[in-house]
Amino acid sequence: MPETITITDDRSGKTVTVPIEGGVFPASAIRELDPSLFVYDPAYMQTASCRSSITYLDGGAGILRYRGYPIEQLAEHSSFLEVAYLLLHGDLPTSEQLSTWTHDVTHHTFIHENMRKRFVDGFHYDAHPMGMFVSAVAALGTFYDGAKEIHDEESCRKQVLRLIAKTPTIAAMCYRFSVGLPFNYPDNDLSFPANFLSMMWKVGDDYHVDPVLERAMDILFILHADHEQNCGTTAMRVVGSSHADPYSSAAAAASALYGPLHGGANEAVVRMLNEIGSIDQVPAFIDSVKAGEGRLMGFGHRVYKNYDPRATIIKKTAYDVFEVTGKNPLLDIALKLEEVALADPYFVDRKLYPNVDFYSGLIYQAMNFPVDMFTVLFAIPRTVGWLAHWQELLADGDQRISRPRQWYVGPEERDYTPISARS
Ligand code: CMC
Repeated sequence: MPETITITDDRSGKTVTVPIEGGVFPASAIRELDPSLFVYDPAYMQTASCRSSITYLDGGAGILRYRGYPIEQLAEHSSFLEVAYLLLHGDLPTSEQLSTWTHDVTHHTFIHENMRKRFVDGFHYDAHPMGMFVSAVAALGTFYDGAKEIHDEESCRKQVLRLIAKTPTIAAMCYRFSVGLPFNYPDNDLSFPANFLSMMWKVGDDYHVDPVLERAMDILFILHADHEQNCGTTAMRVVGSSHADPYSSAAAAASALYGPLHGGANEAVVRMLNEIGSIDQVPAFIDSVKAGEGRLMGFGHRVYKNYDPRATIIKKTAYDVFEVTGKNPLLDIALKLEEVALADPYFVDRKLYPNVDFYSGLIYQAMNFPVDMFTVLFAIPRTVGWLAHWQELLADGDQRISRPRQWYVGPEERDYTPISARS
């Protein structure tokens, strides 16, 4: 069978045949047929906007791999910093490379005092931590001269390190501000997840990170590190394509992540479970979803039409965490919702399964994170994915400034009417 596609423009009878490679054919075929012809594809449902070698996702089969490595193996054997290296460099590090990388990230965790004293202190006392995080990431870039040197390899390397190392510091700082607690400085003797937990929770000197919670945090960071061309990563690429600095691009990506249909869903799941309130209310809630009165948050995915592999790992991690923290009372409602939904033709026919957010919120809540912090917890590791895509974008000779076309459906030309003559 030939691996080509032939498109005929019935208006002119002109035909173009182009190769299909990896299930993709070039849109230049349309340009060849007629340069004024465009494809209407809202939300890029059928459009590949780039070639990428970072993350492979097969939504039908429930497969997720970073640089070829199955997410299940990485979650079991790797650490977040090793995964970060893998995503950014393309291969797992040697032990020497890992120790240099860990040292470099660890020694960029501090932020300029003005970020805390002047910038963060300026927020209203009840500002949403994710709103603070988005603005703080953009502001961070203004502290570094080299931020705009995006064609200088050494400068880019430094900005990447800074962003990865400082996002946990910013995240913890936003939380401590929101509850009126003094800011904890990073502790560079701790691992990446333990340092974050310490900056979040330490009050006095006797705080010790529980190793189960440290590992759970690391696994959650691994699972959230990248997810190919999702809304936030697309925002990173679109803004990055104008050659904006990586801090501004990452702030745009974080803004996209903030939305409840994207990274905000874990927060929405916990709110939903609280509203449901008890197991016996689950059938009535499912009926209301089916009647179109709302969505079952944490269910469904644009790409996964099978169980989200991250949800399977997170569900297991939740039980490990509950051994330490005690069971989250919302777990029973979540399990019942999953059971009822997966047996209901409405969800089965639409291939709606639990996604990464269905159980992650329960873990975060059991670990005492307020729901407002959930999306921030997603943004910390996803910064690595954004940066890996940003690097790939800058190195890709096919890329130019992002500029989609539109299907104009507005009025034809008409003459300006003076205000006195308007009805
Ligand atoms: N509850 C009830 N019905 C749903 C849901 C849901 N969670 N998700 C999709 N549907 C229905 C939808 O009403 C539509 O039905 P119909 O064909 O009768 O109109 C059908 O399923 C297809 O939905 P869609 O909105 O066209 O699907 P999409 O691919 O555009 O949306 C989604 C994907 C994730 C936005 C959506 O499933 C959703 O809103 N889920 C809840 C929010 C959520 O959990 N988001 C986290 C996504 S995973 C984290 C991340 O990667 O950001």
